[in-house]
Amino acid sequence: MASGTWEEFFAVHLPPTDFEDNRSLLKEFCERHDQYGNKIVLVTSGGTTVPLEHNTVRFVDNFSAGKRGAASAEYFLEHGYAVIFMHRQKSLEPFTRHFSGQKLLDMLVMSDRGPNTTICVKPDSVFALAPVLSRYQAAHAAGTLLHVSFTTVSDYFWLLRAACECLAHIGARALLYLSAAVSDFYIPKDRVPTHKMQSGSGAPVIQLHLVPKMLAPLVNLWVPSAYVVSFKLETDENLLIPKAKAALEKYKHKLVIANLLQTRRHRVIMVTPEASQEILLTREEVHASVDIEQMIVGEVVRLHAEHERVTTPRRPR
Ligand code: PMT
Repeated sequence: MASGTWEEFFAVHLPPTDFEDNRSLLKEFCERHDQYGNKIVLVTSGGTTVPLEHNTVRFVDNFSAGKRGAASAEYFLEHGYAVIFMHRQKSLEPFTRHFSGQKLLDMLVMSDRGPNTTICVKPDSVFALAPVLSRYQAAHAAGTLLHVSFTTVSDYFWLLRAACECLAHIGARALLYLSAAVSDFYIPKDRVPTHKMQSGSGAPVIQLHLVPKMLAPLVNLWVPSAYVVSFKLETDENLLIPKAKAALEKYKHKLVIANLLQTRRHRVIMVTPEASQEILLTREEVHASVDIEQMIVGEVVRLHAEHERVTTPRRPR
């Protein structure tokens, strides 16, 4: 089914219930860091859902764990950016991602019991926890990391536009790093049943419609001076680079980071209108659990600085 326009999408889908709170947080964060002259990056992370019922019992989801976004947010902080981490609720988050599941509990030891119970980090886990905790606390103390979350594709677009409205004021100092896996198909609101679909009514026939691509208004209208980085995910190597180039051609932004589902943890290709550059972890780096995001972010930061240099008018001496 053909997609409607992005304006129609916003006209039909109501903002999420926590929208005004998040908008205030975004505004305050961007104004504060603008005053300091800081660069601000918006990192989007995790997958969006498409509800099949208004009172949602079932929804269409995707594979994204949010590792790309969570890890990248940490490296942007290291490079001195203020970071808006816009993520799917319950997907991986910066810092805590290192200790998800049972890992954290396995690092602890309990001594005594009763009123004098103490819980300590096991000596051999301190070396793993201490550097992460120290970077987390530094970001917290400096107020350089803001979390805002979404679940559905419509929540995502409302938040994305609100963040862009705030970031537009800082011009070329804004960086958009759109690593979330955004649904391409959805069910228009007026076709979604209110209540849980009943199996007794037989197998449902669900017609999905195309979600309008928000990159178009984002690049051209919402943040025209920002450095915009989109991602391109494919499963077929033959489509990867042609589709990344086609996206640059169509949306006229600066950089597409292309990756294949199967190899995304150790290989990406950075595609600009001028060139393509592969980042590939060695076997040793993979074994040592090096984050490819460290290298991706290093390169994006360099390209963003160059963008800022050429787009910001020099002050007369
Ligand atoms: O989260 P992980 O498990 O670590 O995995 C990371 C990742 C594979 C999700 C990430 O590296 C990645 O590739 N993210 C983008 C996935 C995606 O949505 O690709 P796409 O080819 O469908 O979309 C391309 C771009 O269009 C995206 O930057 C998206 O922001 C944008 N888009 C998509 C849909 C839509 N309706 N409007 C959009 O603007």
